[in-house]
Amino acid sequence: MCGIVGYSGKTKCGKPLEVCLQGLKRLEYRGYDSAGVALVAPGMERVAYAKKAGRLSNLVGYVQRHPLPDALCGIGHTRWATNGEPSDVNAHPHVSEDGRIAIIHNGIIENAGKLKFDLQSEGYSFVSDTDTEVAAKLLGKIADDIIKKTGKPDLFTACRRMAKMLEGTFTILAVDVREPGVVVGMRHDSPLVVGVGKDESFLGSDVAAFVQYTREAIELGQDQAVRIEGGDITITDFDGKPVEDKHFTVDWDASAAEKGGWPNFMDKEIHEDPSAVNETLMGRFDLDGRIKLDELHVDEDVLRQIDKIIVVACGTASYAGLVAKYAIEHWVRIPVEVELAHEFRYRDPILTPRTLVVAVSQSGETMDTLMAIRHAREQGSKVLAICNTQGSSIPRESDAVLYTHAGPEVAVASTKAFVAQITAAYLLGLYLAQVKGVMFHDEIQLQLSELRAMPKKIQWVLDNDDDLIHQTADRLVDKNGFHFLGRHVGYPVALEGALKLKEIAYTFSEGYAAGELKHGPIALIQEGTPVVVIVPSARNRNILHSKVISTIEEVKARGAYTIAIAEQGDPDAGRYADVTFTVPQCPTLMSPLVDVVPLQLFAMYMAEAKGNDVDKPRNLAKSVTVE
Ligand code: G6P
Repeated sequence: MCGIVGYSGKTKCGKPLEVCLQGLKRLEYRGYDSAGVALVAPGMERVAYAKKAGRLSNLVGYVQRHPLPDALCGIGHTRWATNGEPSDVNAHPHVSEDGRIAIIHNGIIENAGKLKFDLQSEGYSFVSDTDTEVAAKLLGKIADDIIKKTGKPDLFTACRRMAKMLEGTFTILAVDVREPGVVVGMRHDSPLVVGVGKDESFLGSDVAAFVQYTREAIELGQDQAVRIEGGDITITDFDGKPVEDKHFTVDWDASAAEKGGWPNFMDKEIHEDPSAVNETLMGRFDLDGRIKLDELHVDEDVLRQIDKIIVVACGTASYAGLVAKYAIEHWVRIPVEVELAHEFRYRDPILTPRTLVVAVSQSGETMDTLMAIRHAREQGSKVLAICNTQGSSIPRESDAVLYTHAGPEVAVASTKAFVAQITAAYLLGLYLAQVKGVMFHDEIQLQLSELRAMPKKIQWVLDNDDDLIHQTADRLVDKNGFHFLGRHVGYPVALEGALKLKEIAYTFSEGYAAGELKHGPIALIQEGTPVVVIVPSARNRNILHSKVISTIEEVKARGAYTIAIAEQGDPDAGRYADVTFTVPQCPTLMSPLVDVVPLQLFAMYMAEAKGNDVDKPRNLAKSVTVE
């Protein structure tokens, strides 16, 4: 939550503002209730800044009408409010008492109340309701103290000194007119990456902030601070001790984060479902077709000892974990628990060195998931991250990482990351089966060939179902109270379908296991109630198919309007459901990869029909970096 960008170059020009605004455009998915920029150039008495409540476009319009001066460096912020309502005054940047220093902040400063009280008793005054303004005033005071003692400004030292006084979570960037060209960043439990340019450097909440300028990046570790000035980059811990830089090259370019002609990012990203699966499978096999996950860096002996898996995740990622449970338990024959990350560490979970904790996260920054893996590692368990974002916190703090190669996901509602997460978790499951020797080589190969066939099947859904889904969404736009039902792997798909509809169409919906219907929810079914049913194949587990068809009959008998997601050639769905979205035939364990696609499209069309902002739904942020 909150997006942060920073830039420092060698010459005074309009680039700092351009980089900040471009970066904020790409980071807007992290928060979009206000935005601001601050610029510094030699000779300035006070930092030049502008900030506006509302979408980034408000700020852009404002700076067009009230141009900001050319500068050497700049910082920019897009906000998801935690302390203080979204307003011009609460927007970032916040400045020191004398206006010489400006800061932007992502996170929550938990001891802000106490610090504010102390500063007030020294005569400082405050105009906003934010914790960030407290840090701005505090930093101003520390910077002045340093100047008094040493005779020269030292923003880097001042920031590190302040960082040690703050409690809570923060990434803070700061600029000071007395050191034009210098931007200092520091992080504790919130993300920050550094972009390496020629005679210029960048800072961002993630690489999307600067990938159009450079793909060379450095991860900033926990409790580290960075000073950039032109092309000079210094990274230390909060005590000023140098640390080893962890360089990486971003494996996608800026065009991947553009809409590329699609009306919105969600539409584009749903249409990238096939390539997300494909790319996640690429390069993960040796010449004999055996799975090779070199990047895991976990000894095969350790993996052989694993006797339990606990998946920790939130939202869509947790539903991907739930799908994986069915497959991994079936293939590897060890128990798999799936736990919402925010519940996990508070229930005293049973963790041993033989437990593998798998953290699934698109962003790699979800604070709940980060806290869960810290707890797991403290208890001596190994943690493996399934993640889509290089250089992010969750993989950095895990023992091993398996990247999903879905490419940047910009729309707040997760789509292609879901299918990529299932694919990666399936690879992990089959790899464990290979390492533990619990499946024969040809059995693993059969599953892999089914997995490799999925991108084409997903494409078939996109090519064939779109019109019917669009019409159905338009017809049902005024309906409320959708039920999503599924069994076995169709159950997590039902949960995901309901979540999509809540997130972007603001339509009350509930997903649950179809077998639960008769234990309560059926009381809600009345004339016209929309019920979406994921129908399992009649070919594979016939028993489940007939039970789900009975469910459709039961709700229809009570007046429900039923939508079935069923495979081609299903003998019954068409006869009982009002509308059927057809998907290609595939084995049961692969079916979530196609079944979810109509539900993603359906939610998107419902949101569009309601005139909602599909990519930036109200109140949500893509990367939830507070607990
Ligand atoms: C937020 C988003 C969801 C996402 C969840 C987990 O709640 O709105 O779409 O599924 O976070 O995010 P992660 O980045 O950890 O996968």
